[in-house]
Amino acid sequence: MKKIKLKDKEFGVSIPSEDIQKVIVNLAKKINTDFKDAEIPLFISILNGSFMFTADLLKHIDFNCEITFLKLSSYQGTSSTGNVKELIGINENIKGRKIIVLEDIVDTGITLEQIVNELEKYNPEEIRVSTLLFKPAAYQKNINIDYVGMEIPNDFIIGYGLDYDGLGRNLADIYTLIQK
Ligand code: IMP
Ligand code: MG
Repeated sequence: MKKIKLKDKEFGVSIPSEDIQKVIVNLAKKINTDFKDAEIPLFISILNGSFMFTADLLKHIDFNCEITFLKLSSYQGTSSTGNVKELIGINENIKGRKIIVLEDIVDTGITLEQIVNELEKYNPEEIRVSTLLFKPAAYQKNINIDYVGMEIPNDFIIGYGLDYDGLGRNLADIYTLIQK
């Protein structure tokens, strides 16, 4: 098995690049079918993790669309519900549009819920969600995920946009933490 060391941790390949690409082609097929007659949908990619997924997915999208990138602030205000992050970078017109949110991974779903709640304030016609990876065993929320690339076990992974302490985003394959 191909292994890699990032700082103090070792990771082994769990999803090779070719498998990721097949998953993405299938996701694109479903999205193409569902949006073929839609009026210029807007893809919203959530940085940093989704940059590779977004680039590869969009190459297979065959309808006219727009793409923008948003980031959740690292600023964490305090409220009774825990950390409140702000979505930065919204300048596109979202009102009345069909939105497709692109996430690299949905784990607990806390991030996704914050994103969807924030976007709802701009009154889009519809928000759909596509994630490359989904950890069903960790998911705590009720937001519907319309397009899931792959369900994965509740293990820590890196590569293909995902990081450990900022490292590993550049890797073409996905690696899982080797438990010692
Ligand atoms: P959630 O809010 O718990 O769903 O987590 C979402 C965010 O946590 C993702 O957008 C990732 O940035 C990060 N994350 C969750 N699981 C992993 C993982 O296994 N590896 C790297 N980052 C992860
Ligand atoms: Mg992310």
